[in-house]
Amino acid sequence: MEQNGAGLAGTIALGDMTVHRLGFGAMRLCGDSAWGRPKDRDHVNRLLHRAIGLGVNFIDTADSYGPQANESLISQALYPYPSDLVIATKGGLVRPDRRSWVRDGRPGHLRAAVEGSLQRLRLERIDLYQLHAPDPNVPFAESVGALADLQRIGKIRHIGISNVTVAQLDLARSITPIVSVQNAYNLRDQSSADVLAACERLGIAFLPWYPLGGKRGLRALKVKQVATRHGLTHAALSIAWLLAKSPVMLPIPGTRSIDHLEENVRAAALTLAPGDFGDLG
Ligand SMILES: NC(=O)c1ccc[n+]([C@@H]2O[C@H](COP(=O)([O-])OP(=O)(O)OC[C@H]3O[C@@H](n4cnc5c(N)ncnc54)[C@H](OP(=O)(O)O)[C@@H]3O)[C@@H](O)[C@H]2O)c1
Repeated sequence: MEQNGAGLAGTIALGDMTVHRLGFGAMRLCGDSAWGRPKDRDHVNRLLHRAIGLGVNFIDTADSYGPQANESLISQALYPYPSDLVIATKGGLVRPDRRSWVRDGRPGHLRAAVEGSLQRLRLERIDLYQLHAPDPNVPFAESVGALADLQRIGKIRHIGISNVTVAQLDLARSITPIVSVQNAYNLRDQSSADVLAACERLGIAFLPWYPLGGKRGLRALKVKQVATRHGLTHAALSIAWLLAKSPVMLPIPGTRSIDHLEENVRAAALTLAPGDFGDLG
């Protein structure tokens, strides 16, 4: 493992597990729109092995990526897994077609989804299982309760939730311990600042999805200017900013490019002070 890898971001606890504070988001390893299979399976294998070689020991996936194909790509490339690797998957969304992400938080669906993920990931227990999003047609407590039941019978080690409000986090915590929250958060979208603050108070991990935040718009131009001033790329500045923003932040940038993966992991070594980000927030 390389000395200057993801470990330079420090570590973070997920319940009784500890991982490096820079992970990898696997969603984009499928075809476009997180649909289908990749054109070059060997390249995906090489990329996942490179991530492990760079010290990444946290990978985020979901049964709805592919759908299903994403979890299989990970097990086909990495099983038997390194002992310190934590694979976090998610359930509660279904994909009738490429454009649709439909919420299904019914307990029966979640039970079947966990069984499917266990099989595809070749695991007897999922280290971190996240409810992908609350389903407006199902009481949130019922969805979380179903995951708590699956935890009790040993299918799930730890539970996380995603795309939630502070009130939903509080409700989930009244049912079962929650070790992580995964919401959109980046230099351009800090609408989950209150959820991040709640995670800080509770000492649980916050996984910002879409961490690089895209490159369009005025705000992105400003980010580019600050990045240029420090001799950094947009991506490296975004990751360094997230890591500096909070000790509970666990970014999961995703890429299909090994060069970009290496660049993103190099950002773990950057030690920027809050003042270095100017008025980016
Ligand atoms: N919970 C949820 O609802 C939810 C929703 C979306 C995503 N997620 C999770 O969050 C992870 C990350 O989200 P994301 O993929 O949407 O956003 P992201 O990681 O911010 O952005 C990925 C995009 O940035 C590009 N990129 C990556 N590194 C780069 C670099 N160094 N230089 C230039 N471009 C770079 C990638 O293209 P290249 O392939 O060309 O590098 C890709 O188009 C996903 O993999 C998934 O696990 C969760």
